[in-house]
This record gives sequence, structure tokens and C-alpha cells, in this order.
Amino acid sequence: FHVPKAVNEPVKSYAPNSPEKAAVLAAYKKMWNETIDVPMYIGSEQIKTGNTRTMSAPHDHQHIVGTYHLAEKSHVEKAIASALDARKKWSQMPWEHRAAIFLKAAELIAGPYRARINAATMIAQSKTIFQAEIDASCELIDFLRYNVEFMTQIYQDQPTSNSDVWNKVEYRPLEGFVYAITPFNFTAIAANLPASAALMGNTVVWKPSDSQVFSAKIIIDVFREAGVPDGVINVVFGDPVMITDTVLASPDFAGVHYTGSTFVFKEIWKKIGTQIHSYKTYPRIVGETGGKDFVVAHPSANVKQVVTGITRGAFEFQGQKCSAASRAYIPQSLWPAVKEQLIIDVNSMKMGSPEDFSNFITAVIHEGSFDKLASYIDQAKKDADAEIILGGNYDKSKGYFIEPTVIVTTNPKYTTMETELFGPVITIYVYEDAKWNQTLKLVDETSEYALTGAIFSQDRYATIEATKALENAAGNFYINDKPTGAVVGMQPFGGARASGTNDKAGSMQNLLRWVSPRTIKETF
Ligand code: SER
Repeated sequence: FHVPKAVNEPVKSYAPNSPEKAAVLAAYKKMWNETIDVPMYIGSEQIKTGNTRTMSAPHDHQHIVGTYHLAEKSHVEKAIASALDARKKWSQMPWEHRAAIFLKAAELIAGPYRARINAATMIAQSKTIFQAEIDASCELIDFLRYNVEFMTQIYQDQPTSNSDVWNKVEYRPLEGFVYAITPFNFTAIAANLPASAALMGNTVVWKPSDSQVFSAKIIIDVFREAGVPDGVINVVFGDPVMITDTVLASPDFAGVHYTGSTFVFKEIWKKIGTQIHSYKTYPRIVGETGGKDFVVAHPSANVKQVVTGITRGAFEFQGQKCSAASRAYIPQSLWPAVKEQLIIDVNSMKMGSPEDFSNFITAVIHEGSFDKLASYIDQAKKDADAEIILGGNYDKSKGYFIEPTVIVTTNPKYTTMETELFGPVITIYVYEDAKWNQTLKLVDETSEYALTGAIFSQDRYATIEATKALENAAGNFYINDKPTGAVVGMQPFGGARASGTNDKAGSMQNLLRWVSPRTIKETF
């Protein structure tokens, strides 16, 4: 079979007077003036339970975007039954037809739905247009296209046969259904977690984040328009504990595809462990969780590169990336120059609403996140071993705005050097140049997480030392670049330790978790 070669979707510029800018602003205005009512999608039904929650815009929290309907336990059970029923035909569908459906979904996002999914992501997840374009359009499209390419490579990988024996491996879907739990911070991840399992022939119960319901609705509408049959991806909203407990109580639960907090992932793992005797098959547990991602500069580093790594790594996407730079280690000899440039760069970042395209950063996702960040900032203002050199102000009167904040600490184990904050705050520790090797050791020892990290160095020996010393401290390791912005097909993304199972999103390894191969030997 010849399958179209995956290509990364080009990022549109949204320049002034460009048609894409006009289209996204028109979609934004239209959606802003509507109030949407989002049903659950279970089997062939769109269910409105009447028990609803409202969604508001994080940058203007009095503005109600819409409502969504919450599941009772019986709806979750119905979603499981629908998934198992749909599996009978979906798992038998020739793979190239499943591929065609998801490739069509990619083209629908690339074309007719692009402005809408970007606008929904801007409104309800408070992303700037550039953040929305990179996430909800390009990365989402890339996931769908590359998954198809990797899937075809998997199916074509066959063992050796000879003249009297024919050996085959069938990459069958898992026996049961897959549970997808997705986060607010990437529309692309929300689409990829159910879609990758479904592409491999599984059927899915999908629970999106409460803060991502608006773009989740567009995703499911696109999948259905592209030809995903009823029951293949069932969407339920509501109490995460009730939904998860109901899903995990099913003997047909065959795997979880998760992105979210480390704490919740470990709780899910524990529940699966205690119920392991009840399942027909060992469930696949695939998760991407937190990060406390580092930037380490060597004395030979290029100052401009270091500062760009810090500012883009820490503050783009409001710091709400599990890959975001949130701690930095700068040598004393470079610190005056780094600090000077940092002040210039951070002061030039505009903060405000997403509909103003000149804003670089917008609001954080909700009040809980805002309050948590504010409390760490307040604490840093009091602590003798911390100093806020940039930002430090916050205001939730209209939206949940936290200024890009730089804390400098004299304590390499200061709380914000170790705790994941998930917001636009970075903490810097200045080390003595002579202590380069000790600093690398320190970074590794304080890496409870191991998602991403960046080192900056113009000295090849130092680069080699850092690459070796930090080999287990980051699943995505960047040399002279920010630790964020992995591109599907280019930098497979994921980490180990407390950051997850490292089954790289958008990769062949990941798709292999959603199949249960059967080997067939036929003797002539
Ligand atoms: N994949 C994103 C990045 O690399 C994070 O989820 O920044």
C-alpha cells in the first residue's frame, strides 16, 4: 500500500491584513457572542443530562462561553458498552480505511475547521493566536498524519518466512476498550490520545479536561465528519473520580492513555494494581505527567541563546506546558549579561487578551492555578533566600493574569527549584563557574521529574559532559535551544521518572502500546 508521506503542517503567520487573521478573528467574534451547549457523545447519541457546568474565558472570567453536560455513572457504563459494541466492526475494518478517516480529519482541521478550532482554543483555554495555531492546528494535524505513517510501518514489519513456513504477525487492537484522559493545555494532545488508540483499531472512552470542553467538541465533530463511526470514540464529561472508577471497574478495561498530573496518574496506576485480578488482560498504562524542566548554561554559552531559551521556554504558553523551563542554572561569569538581557526581553513581553495579536502571554487557565502561583510568588517575596527580579504582580479582577516572573535564589534546593508550578514563573540559581560538574550532579539529583531540559554551551567537551551527566534527567534533551516545542515526527516527546512512561507521543513506540500482536506460523 502506498500511503501519503507525512509532512508537518506549515505554521501560518497571521500577519496584519492576512486572510487567516481575518478568518480567525471573525470566528472568535462569532463564538464569543454565542453560548454553546455541549452534549456528551455516547454511541449514536448526543446526550444532554441537564446537569451542567459552565465554561468561562480565563482572560475574562465573567464571560460565559457555554455549558456542558455531566455524566452519571450509568452514562459512563453506557459509553463502555457502546465502545465494546462498536469494537466488533471497527477492529475488523481494514487499516487503510481507518487511516483514510484520520487523514481526512487532519485535512478538515487544516482547512475548514482551522479558524474555529484555533478560536475555541483562544477563547476557552486562553491561548494567543500563535499558541493556538501551533497547538490546535499544526501539532494536531501532525499527530494525525504521522500516526498514519507510523502505523503503516508497524503493519509492514513482518518476520522472516521460508519456502515451507509462512510467518506472520497480526497487529490486532487490544482486547477491550481504551480510556483516554486528556489535559487542558494542548488541544493537540486531547485529540491525539483517543485518536492514536482508535487508529490502531481500538474503541475509546474519552474524558477531556473540564477546561478544554469547547475545543474537544470541535475535535469530536471533526472526527465524526471524517467518518469515525458511532461508538468508536465516546466522550464523557464530569466528576473525574467517578468516571475513572467506573471505567476501571470494567473487566474489559484494556488500557489508559493519559496526560495530566503525576499524582492522578499514580492514583490510577494504584487502582489498576489493586483490581488487576478483575481484568481480562493486563491493561496498558501509558502516561505523560509532570515536569520540572531545566536550563543549564556553561560558562562558554552564548548569552542571547541562553536568554531566549529562558524567556521562550518559561513564558510562552503562559508556562503551561509540561515541558516549560522552570529552573535555570547560570554561571557567575555570565550572570550580569544574562540578567541585563533578561530584563530587556521580559519587559518587552505584552500580556493581555488573545484577540489582541500583539500579546505574547495571556491568562492562566483558572482560579485554582492563579491562586497557587500567587501563593508561591508571595512566599518568594518573604523568603530570605529568594528575590523576585522581574514580574511578581498578579491580578484576577478580570482574567487570571500572572506577570512573567523571575525568581533568583541562593538556595539550589529552594521550593520553586523543585516544585512544578505550571505557570509563567522561573527560578534561577547562579553557580560558581568552577563548580560546573557539581552543578550537573545537582541538577540530576534534584530531577524528580525527567521530561525536558536544555543545556547551553559552545564548548564541545562541556556539552558531552552535560549530555552524559543528565542522561536520565530528561526524555527530551536540547542543546543550545529552549526545552519546549517538540515537533511531531522530529522530536518524539516524553520523559521518564515522575514525568511518565516515556512512550513518546506521536511515535511508533506509542502506537505499539495500542496493539496486541498475534504471531501466526503456517506450515505448508
Ligand atoms: N510537546 C510540547 C512541547 O514540546 C509539550 O507538551 O513543548
